[in-house]
Amino acid sequence: MLLWLLFFPFLLEISSSFSSKVTLTDPNGGYFYSPEYHSDYPNDLSTTYSISAPDGYYIRITFLVFHTEQNYDTLTIYDGDSSDSKLLARLSGSRSGTVLVTSGNNVYMDFETDLAVNDRGFYAKYEVFLVGTNPQDLHGCPQSNYESAQFLGITSPNWPRNYTELLDCGYHIKVDPGYTIHLMIEAFQTEHFDYLRIYDGPNADANPIAELRDSPATPIDFTSTTNEMYMFFSTDLLYTDIGFAGVFWPVSADKSKAKLSKGNPIKETVPKIFDSPKISSLFHLRPARHLLIP
Ligand SMILES: *[C@@H]1O[C@H](CO)[C@@H](O)[C@H](O)[C@H]1NC(C)=O
Repeated sequence: MLLWLLFFPFLLEISSSFSSKVTLTDPNGGYFYSPEYHSDYPNDLSTTYSISAPDGYYIRITFLVFHTEQNYDTLTIYDGDSSDSKLLARLSGSRSGTVLVTSGNNVYMDFETDLAVNDRGFYAKYEVFLVGTNPQDLHGCPQSNYESAQFLGITSPNWPRNYTELLDCGYHIKVDPGYTIHLMIEAFQTEHFDYLRIYDGPNADANPIAELRDSPATPIDFTSTTNEMYMFFSTDLLYTDIGFAGVFWPVSADKSKAKLSKGNPIKETVPKIFDSPKISSLFHLRPARHLLIP
C-alpha cells in the first residue's frame, strides 16, 4: 500500500469526494471561506488554503464565522507554507472571533470533514502587516461603503476587540441592481446604550428593519427589498464591548434565476447568483443547527 502511494501520490489528493486548493496572495488582504459557504459545507471534504504575503510581512487571520462539528470537522492551521510547518491552531466547534497571527509571510490551512454531520463552516478575513509592527486599533469608524458581488464581511471597528466610545458609524451596503441583500449578523454584543440600526434602503431615512443592542441570540438574518441597505452603529461615552460581525451577500431578486455554485470556494468567478436562503420574514432568528445526515 505504502509503495503504491509512493508511486501514485496524486491518488491521495483525490481520495476525498471533494478536494480543492485555494491560494490567496493579495497584499491588501481579503477573505476566504469554507466550500459552499453560506450553505453548510459538504461531508467528506478536503480543502487546503495557502496564503502568501510579500517577504517581510506577517498575516493576521480573523474568523468572523466559525462553526463546525466539534472534533470531527477540523481546520488545521500551520505557521508556514505546508503541513510540515509548525502547528498554529486546530479549530473545530464554535470558534467565531478567533484571531491568529503568523510569524512569517505564509500560512497553510487544511479543512477536513468527516462522513456525517455538517455545519455552517467558516468565513474569515486575512490582513498582512510589516514584521515588527503591530496592527493599530481603529479610533473611529471603519470604511463606510461596502459594495460586493459576492460575500463580504462587515464588523464594528476592531472586532473582536472592543470598539471605542462616542462613535456614529454609517455602513452603506450595495449589491448589483436586480439583487437584494442578505445580511447575517453572526456575533453581537454591546452595552445597553450602544446599538446597531439596520435600514431597508440607502440611508437612515429608509424603513428601519431592526435595532440591536445587548446580546441577542445569533445568527440573525435580514433581507432587503432592494439592492441597498444601511446600518448605523452608535456608541456612547461610557463602556464599550466587542460589537458585531456579519457577512452579507447578494441574492437574485428573480428567484427563477437562483442557482447555487459548487466547487472551489474562492474563485474570482464565484457566480453572482445565489440560492435564496429560506427566510420566512425580514427578522428571522435561525435556530442552531446540528443535523445528522443519514
Ligand atoms: C471590553 O468590554 C467588556 C464589556 O464592557 C469589558 O468587560 C472589558 O474590560 C473590555 N475590554 C477592554 C480591553 O477594554
